Amino acid sequence: MKTAIVGLGYVGLPLSIQFAKSDVTVLGLDIDTAKVDALNQGRSYIKHIPSEAVAEVVRQGMFSASTDFSRVREVSAIIICVPTPLNKNREPDISYILDTGKSIARYLQKGTLVVLESTTYPGTTDEDLREVLEIGSGLEAGRDFHLAFSPEREDPGNPNSKVAVIPKVVGGFTPACLEKAKALYSKAVKTIVPVSSCRAAEATKLLENTFRGVNIALVNELKVVYSAMGIDVWEVINAAKTKPFGFMAFYPGPGLGGHCIPIDPFYLTWKAREYGQHTRFIELAGEVNTGMPAYVVHRVADALNDRKKALNGSSVLVVGLAYKPNVDDERESPSYVLMEMLSARGVKVAYYDPYVPVIRPTREHRHWAGTKSVEWNRETVSNFDAVLIATNHASINYQELAEWAPCIVDTRNAMAGIATQPGQLWKA
Ligand SMILES: NC(=O)c1ccc[n+]([C@@H]2O[C@H](COP(=O)([O-])OP(=O)(O)OC[C@H]3O[C@@H](n4cnc5c(N)ncnc54)[C@H](O)[C@@H]3O)[C@@H](O)[C@H]2O)c1
Repeated sequence: MKTAIVGLGYVGLPLSIQFAKSDVTVLGLDIDTAKVDALNQGRSYIKHIPSEAVAEVVRQGMFSASTDFSRVREVSAIIICVPTPLNKNREPDISYILDTGKSIARYLQKGTLVVLESTTYPGTTDEDLREVLEIGSGLEAGRDFHLAFSPEREDPGNPNSKVAVIPKVVGGFTPACLEKAKALYSKAVKTIVPVSSCRAAEATKLLENTFRGVNIALVNELKVVYSAMGIDVWEVINAAKTKPFGFMAFYPGPGLGGHCIPIDPFYLTWKAREYGQHTRFIELAGEVNTGMPAYVVHRVADALNDRKKALNGSSVLVVGLAYKPNVDDERESPSYVLMEMLSARGVKVAYYDPYVPVIRPTREHRHWAGTKSVEWNRETVSNFDAVLIATNHASINYQELAEWAPCIVDTRNAMAGIATQPGQLWKA
């Protein structure tokens, strides 16, 4: 059996490896020649995916990458894992999905299964993608080819998150499409969770991500309220989570980051409008979460003020550029927002992140491109007026930070259990 996986990113690459290890030959397709070349040479370009895992499946002939989409003729299934960002008006941008649909439609063979994995609003698979596939191929979904949606549940950087053991929700355009998709995934994934339609599967993913966004907003709000009352929200959450039922711990932070939680719920908001529906929880959570960087900057100002310093003219080291601990992914990271806000107030800003040695050029943060992470040593760190912990990478030595930094603003409770001087540590 041979399957094509389109989009060899944070989702597509681990999925490719899992299929390749499960006796399914994988043709990885991407438009990025640099990624394709690296993977064919057995090199991973993602920190938490070891090159050895890629090299092994390449060596065994179970995985190869290509930019030639005509090769989908060779496969019996095509899985699409391309980006689904928001455009500058914060509306869904499904152009990557549609472009992929157009690229594969011309070569689509009868009987092929096409599965979309990209997170998106209900209706994308059976309306938008179906249309480009049918027009481009002259074939009909459900009759000539199979169509399904199966959301990705990747948790980058979590060593216990293994594609094979995370249950996979699958919805088909027809019952036969569902059966085909179940058969495909059951080769590589232990538990399949079938649902009645592509839309139900799309909606499942949006529920999962909205649930997180809303709960993170709740603890972010409580963080601000409890801080005003002199109560440490981290202590409260740690106590509350000892309740063995009806509670699930979420943690506050400097704002949302990554490719999913800050973005996906707004796919639902946008689609809901078509039905005259409003997503008030999502909007409110978005408002609270996007307000976090301003709160953090306010706390940095308080901390500096305590030391008779103003933001303007001070220097601040932002620790952690990645949006979450122990990964090298800094897409949508709130650290960028913090750096923007601080420098707009006259702060000399630098960052330290062992996983992001230099900022790559991106559309959103063009002017930071080329900025390098500072060195981690006493002389460098102690020269900053304040250190702002935005991401709590496990490899950072917080004991050293306590010894070196005159003032620390901690948004992640990274300094828990580390002795600090009175007035040195501020939670934010
Ligand atoms: N990263 C995560 O943790 C995560 C988790 C769950 C779901 N998702 C969802 O999975 C999807 C993919 O996310 P990702 O993080 O893997 O993105 P990514 O940016 O890491 O990877 C996407 C890949 O697609 C390629 N690509 C872009 N346009 C293409 C095209 N027209 N044809 C072929 N390849 C193309 C890019 O070059 C890139 O390699 C998104 O919808 C995202 O919301 C991501």
